[in-house]
Amino acid sequence: MIQIKEISAKETFPIRLEVLRKNIPLPYEFNGDFDKETFHLGAFKNEELIAVSSYMKASNKNFEGNQYQLRGMATLTEYQGFGAGKLMLQKAVQILKEKNTTILWCNARIAAVEFYKKQGFQTFSEKFEISPVGEHYVMFKELK
Ligand SMILES: CC(C)(COP(=O)(O)OP(=O)(O)OC[C@H]1O[C@@H](n2cnc3c(N)ncnc32)[C@H](O)[C@@H]1OP(=O)(O)O)[C@@H](O)C(=O)NCCC(=O)NCCS
Repeated sequence: MIQIKEISAKETFPIRLEVLRKNIPLPYEFNGDFDKETFHLGAFKNEELIAVSSYMKASNKNFEGNQYQLRGMATLTEYQGFGAGKLMLQKAVQILKEKNTTILWCNARIAAVEFYKKQGFQTFSEKFEISPVGEHYVMFKELK
């Protein structure tokens, strides 16, 4: 069974590094990681941390309302497809609604767009490049 818990910023770093920064010379620490409004979720299987995601209060000029940005969504390769990402997002939506957040948005890698669509996100922008990671879309989910 997979359990979702709040974790610290530092606990997210090893999985960010492994899954999101392999051969990519960008920092695995993000601006805002330690802000007081930021929270981080981890998915645990038999006490092992297998997936992480982070939620930061940040506004995208294309949206209105009370916004959070999803960053650093990553599941260890061997555990992908077992529901960890989906369960983290469900928990995040619950927490964000309690904070009266109306929009959760992210810069989604092309390879993850279908995952986000399954979780109720829509694409907003044209494709754009974040070098050297590759092409991304802005995606958003309205929290009702
Ligand atoms: C994208 C990612 C976070 C998804 O996490 P995950 O734990 O594997 O996702 P889940 O197991 O919760 O998947 C939920 C659903 O989405 C589907 N899904 C997951 N990743 C998918 C993908 N890349 N493309 C299409 N569907 C996908 C699953 O099959 C599952 O479908 P179901 O509900 O019909 O069974 C994970 O694959 C990952 O870490 N990828 C590499 C890093 C990355 O690209 N992160 C996103 C950066 S923007």
